[in-house]
Amino acid sequence: MLLHSAAQLLTIAGSPQRGVTLGNLGIIPEGAVLIRDGMIEAVGTTSELRQTYPQEEKLDAAGHVVMPGFVDPHTHLMWVGDRAAEFEMRLQGKTYLEILATGGGILSTVGLTRQSSLEQLMEETRPRLQEMLVYGTTTAEAKTGYGLQTETELRMLQALLLLDAEGPLDIAPTFLGAHAIPPEYKDNARGYTDVLCSEMLPTVRRWWDAHIPSRPLPFVDVFCETGAFNLEQSRQILGTAKTLGFPLKIHADEFDNLGGASLAAELGAVSADHLVRTSPADIAALGNSNTVAVALPCTPFGLAEHDYTPAQVILKAGGLLALATDLNPGTAWGGNMQFAIALACRYMRLTPAQAIVAATLNAAAAIHRADKIGSLELGKQADLLILNVADYRHLGYRFSTNLVKTVIKRGKLFYNYQT
Ligand code: NIG
Ligand code: FE
Repeated sequence: MLLHSAAQLLTIAGSPQRGVTLGNLGIIPEGAVLIRDGMIEAVGTTSELRQTYPQEEKLDAAGHVVMPGFVDPHTHLMWVGDRAAEFEMRLQGKTYLEILATGGGILSTVGLTRQSSLEQLMEETRPRLQEMLVYGTTTAEAKTGYGLQTETELRMLQALLLLDAEGPLDIAPTFLGAHAIPPEYKDNARGYTDVLCSEMLPTVRRWWDAHIPSRPLPFVDVFCETGAFNLEQSRQILGTAKTLGFPLKIHADEFDNLGGASLAAELGAVSADHLVRTSPADIAALGNSNTVAVALPCTPFGLAEHDYTPAQVILKAGGLLALATDLNPGTAWGGNMQFAIALACRYMRLTPAQAIVAATLNAAAAIHRADKIGSLELGKQADLLILNVADYRHLGYRFSTNLVKTVIKRGKLFYNYQT
C-alpha cells in the first residue's frame, strides 16, 4: 500500500534524540510511505514513491499529518476494580502515601487482582488496550505489580503475554513484584525484599525459560519510594535482577528523592521513570548515562500536584527524555498519549516537536525497541497514525479531542469513527 500526499510526514528518522537535540521531526512535506507485509519498505516524497511504485494500492492522506504510532513506555494497564473512593479521600486531604500506608492504594488493587482469574484479568484489560489504540498508541509497556506474590504475579505476566499475542497492540512486559510491601510483610520490607531476590525473581526467570525462551526477558522494575522500597532494598532487587539477566527499570523520585535515578544510571537500567523530585546530582548522572528519563505528566495531574518532571533541566544535562502515561487506577487512569503531550507542553515546557519525539522514538528506546518502532524508516514496523490536522503542532496545542483519524498497526488499518 502506498500512503501518499501527507501534508507533513513526520519520519523522526535516525537515532533516539539526546539532550537539546530533542525535537527533530524529519518532516517530509507531501510525504509518502510504502507499506508491505506490515513493514515499511520506502519513505520519500509522493512524487518519488509514485514513480517507483506506480501499481500499488493507494491511500490518500492529503491535508493530514502522518507520523509513527505512539509508544507508551510506562503503564500499569492490567488491574481489577477501581479506586474512586480514594480519589475522593485525596480531594478531602489525604495523601497518596498516607492511603498506601494504611493498607489502601496499590494494596487495595492487589486484594482484588489476587482474586481474579487469568480470563478476568484479560477481560478487564482489553477495553483499555482498545482505547489506547483509538488514541494512537501502537505499542505499550505494561507492568505486573498487583499480585506481590509469585502466583498472581505470574498470572499477570501470562495474561499480558496472551494479550500481546491477541494484538493489535504490542505489549512489552515488566515484572513489578517490587511495587509495594504486601500485607503479609507489613513493616517488614526487608523480609519481602529477601523473598523477591531469593525466590520470586529466580522463579520468574525459570518460568520464562520454560515457556518463552526465545523472547527477550521482561524488564524488572522497583518502586523506590518512601513507604515502598528504600534505596538499599532497590539496589538489592535490581542488582539481583541484573545478575539473572533481566533488563532494568525504576520508579524514582515520584514523591521523595531517594537517589533511585543515580542507581539506575549506575546499574545501566533501560529507564528511570517519574523523576519529579530528582536532585541535580541525579540528573547529571542520568545525563551521562544511556538510561532513558521517562516523564509521566498525567501522574502529577492525576494527583492534583503542582510539580512536574524538570524536562528542560534533564535535556540541558544531556539526558534522553521520553514520555509515558503511567496508566493505572491510583494516580493516573488515562492511557491517552495525546493528553500526556498536552500536559508536557504546558507543565514541562516541551515544544510539540520535542514532546512528539519523546512519545515515539525516545519512548521506543525506553523499552529497548528503537530498532523496530518509533520512527518511519525503511525496515521498521508499519505502525503509523494519520491525524485529522495538517500541522503537527496541533498535538500539544489541543487536548481532550482525539486528533487521530486512522491507526495503521503492522500495516493493518483501524479507522477511528469518532472523527
Ligand atoms: O507509577 N507509584 C507506583 N505506581 C503507580 C501507581 C500505581 C497505583 O497507585 O496503583 C505510579 O504512580
Ligand atoms: Fe508507574
